[in-house]
Amino acid sequence: MAAAILDVDALRARFPALASGVAFLDAPGGTQCPQSVIDAIGSYLRESNANLGGAFAASRRSDELVERAHGTAAGFLGCRPEETIFGQNMTTLNFALTRALARTLEAGDEILVTQLDHDGNVAPWLELAHDLDLRVDFVEIHEDTTLDLDDLERKLTERTRVVAFPLASNAVGTTPDAARVVALAHEAGALAWADAVHFAPHGPIDVAALGVDVLLCSPYKFFGPHLGLAFGREVLLRAWRPYKVRPAADEPVGTRFETGTLAHELFAGFVAAVEYIGEVGWDAIRTHERALGQRFLDGLPGRCTLYGLETMEGRVPTFVFRVAGLTPREVAERFAEQGIAVWAGDYYAVEAMERLGLQPDGAVRAGFVHYNTLDEVDRLLEALAAL
Ligand SMILES: Cc1ncc(COP(=O)(O)O)c(C=O)c1O
Repeated sequence: MAAAILDVDALRARFPALASGVAFLDAPGGTQCPQSVIDAIGSYLRESNANLGGAFAASRRSDELVERAHGTAAGFLGCRPEETIFGQNMTTLNFALTRALARTLEAGDEILVTQLDHDGNVAPWLELAHDLDLRVDFVEIHEDTTLDLDDLERKLTERTRVVAFPLASNAVGTTPDAARVVALAHEAGALAWADAVHFAPHGPIDVAALGVDVLLCSPYKFFGPHLGLAFGREVLLRAWRPYKVRPAADEPVGTRFETGTLAHELFAGFVAAVEYIGEVGWDAIRTHERALGQRFLDGLPGRCTLYGLETMEGRVPTFVFRVAGLTPREVAERFAEQGIAVWAGDYYAVEAMERLGLQPDGAVRAGFVHYNTLDEVDRLLEALAAL
C-alpha cells in the first residue's frame, strides 16, 4: 500500500501563525492552532458562553458542548466518555489524580517512575512520598536513552503500587515499549500510569490496546488550546474518593475529578483540534514526521552532539543536542534572531538531562510536528552549520 502523502502547503495555510515565516520547531513546548480551533473558541464565547445546567439556551448549548467534548476525548483516547477528565493542564490533573489514589496508599508503598519522565509525572509522587512516607524509585535508561526494562523488572516488588512512565520523552524523543512496561507493572500488581503529553501529536493513542490504568495528555501539544485531559479506568475512578465540592455531580464518574467551572470555550477548541487531526490522518502525519526526522539526523553538522537515538526507530522527531563552544541558550537566542524557534534548558525532564550529563545548562531542543517542512529542517541545519 502506498504511504499516505501529506499536502503540507495546504495544511499550513490553515494555521495563521505559520504565515509569519517563523520556523516553529518548538512544538514539544506547545503547538500552533489551526483557524478552526481559533474559530471554535471565539464562536463559543460569542454564542454559548454560560455556566452549566441552566434552563436557557446558552447554558443548554454549553451542556451539549461539554458532553460532546467528553465524547470526542473518548474517541481520541479509545475509552468511554465517562472515563475522561478535563483539567487545567496535565500537571494539575496529575496532582489531583495521584492525590485521590493516595487515599488508598500506605507508608512503605512503592512507586516507580522513570528517568525519561517529565517532572509532571514525577513530582506528584515525590510530594506524596513526602506526606505519606512512600518510596519512589527511578527506572534507569541506557546510554542510548532507551528504557532499561531489566532495571524495571529488578525494581518491581510486592509493594510497588504504581509504575509511572511516558509514552515518549519530551527531551530525547525516545518512545519506551509501553506494552512491556504495562505488562510488567500488571504482573507485579501495580497500576500503569502513562504520560502521553509528548506522544500525543505524533500518533494515535488507544488506552484499551495499551492496557494502561491512567493516561494523561495536554491538548495544547496537539494543535488545541491550553487544557489537560486524562483517562482513568472506570473501576479505579469509582474506587477513589475524589476531592470535590458536595453539590457537584458524581456522574459521569470522570467528572468527579473535574473541580470548579472549567474553560468551556477551550473544550470547543479541543473538539476542533481532534476534528482537524481526523481530517489530516495519522498515517500521513507519521510518514511526514519520519521524513523530517530523518532529514535532520542525516544533516546534523559534526560540531553538534546529539543525545538520544540516532535513527527514527523507537523515537518521535524530538531532538536534543549541544553545539560545541556555545551554551544552549546562546544557540536559541541566535536562532530566534533568524526566525527559528527552538528551546534551551531541561524542559522539566530533569532526570534524563542529569543522567546524560547535560545539567545545569541543558541542551538545545528542536521538535518537529506534521506542519513543519523539509525546508524548515534545512533552515535549521544551515543555521547550525553557520553558527
Ligand atoms: C512529557 C510531558 N509531560 C508533562 C508535561 C506537563 O504538561 P502540562 O503543561 O499540561 O502540565 C509536559 C509539558 O511539557 C510534557 O512534555
